[in-house]
Amino acid sequence: MLRFPFFSVILLLLGLSLAAQESLLPPGTVWTDQNGLHVNAHGGNVIHVGDTYYWYGESRSRVGGPMPGVSLYTSKDMLHWHDCGIVLSTVADTACPIQRGCVIERPKVVRCPHTDNYVMLFHLELKGKGYAAAMMGFADSPSPEGPFTFRRALRPTAGKWPMDFKRKDRKLARGHRPEDYKDWWTPSWEKAVREGMYVARDLKGGQMSRDQTIFVDDDGKAYQISSSEENLTLHINELTSDYMGFTGRYVRVAPGEMNEAPTLLKHNGTYWLITSGCTGWAPNEARMYSAKSIWGPWTRHPSPCRGPKAKTTFDGQGNYIFRQGQRFIFMADRWQPKKLSESPHIWLPITFDAEGVPVIEWKD
Ligand code: GAL
Repeated sequence: MLRFPFFSVILLLLGLSLAAQESLLPPGTVWTDQNGLHVNAHGGNVIHVGDTYYWYGESRSRVGGPMPGVSLYTSKDMLHWHDCGIVLSTVADTACPIQRGCVIERPKVVRCPHTDNYVMLFHLELKGKGYAAAMMGFADSPSPEGPFTFRRALRPTAGKWPMDFKRKDRKLARGHRPEDYKDWWTPSWEKAVREGMYVARDLKGGQMSRDQTIFVDDDGKAYQISSSEENLTLHINELTSDYMGFTGRYVRVAPGEMNEAPTLLKHNGTYWLITSGCTGWAPNEARMYSAKSIWGPWTRHPSPCRGPKAKTTFDGQGNYIFRQGQRFIFMADRWQPKKLSESPHIWLPITFDAEGVPVIEWKD
């Protein structure tokens, strides 16, 4: 009879468990790059080009102080990530909107099939202005490796009313002025918000745009989805065919419901929007909306999250839904406001129940 000494069995088990760990990125833990440092790419997205995965995100300073810009990590297997440095840098030029000290959040990169260009959209807050600017920026590069060239920063859709606003809706919106409402959350204020008070206020200079994502539809049309109107209402903005500007066509989603962290997927002809509430860095329960057309109408559903900490989106906040074929990954950040660079990543598969409704179940 063959006999294994006890310690060989232990060694074998240890080897197997190490091999298993090699093929896992447990959500909510430290994910290291080739230098053994936590992947410093937050609020971002992943694209797959050729045999490489490109992961872009906010590079938060590891030592405190201003953020360096947008980072890129690459991988062949989505497990082993290689730090490729900063692909969009904040700059010394004080006349540039992305001067050092500005805040770049939720960068997203997609390839534009019409120009073969890689387009980056991001949320931009100007240096020293807190979150008041509520702008977004465009940058691009002929290659997914970057570097990306900053093109411009603006507030979307200046001078444009939402697509579904008829003459009477415009008049109603124009009839409200924020200065006439001392308190938020009164029934009359909520009605004014629903009727587009902030759309009217920002019509001339462009609509506010904070948390944002980009979604490319099957027909190659792209949309920016952003938290607008003082974070009270989401806007879905159609991008031009080169993805470097807005067509001016947009709709409002869930007016007054305060959604942030928008992420979007399309499955079997239905659009699913998964968002968070607005509690800053603190996690809250995810929300979900569906529609048969990107232009709505959008219907609210319960949170798709299941399992421990589902009520706080697993202590995270969504940043993107990565799709490959019929597989979807919900990407989220578990923010560590005192050390944003170390915020753990949470990636979980999205499955669909018997009715085709997305489900995100916690997996260790
Ligand atoms: C969160 C938002 C983050 C960041 C943060 C700042 O609600 O999703 O991207 O802007 O607020 O407090």
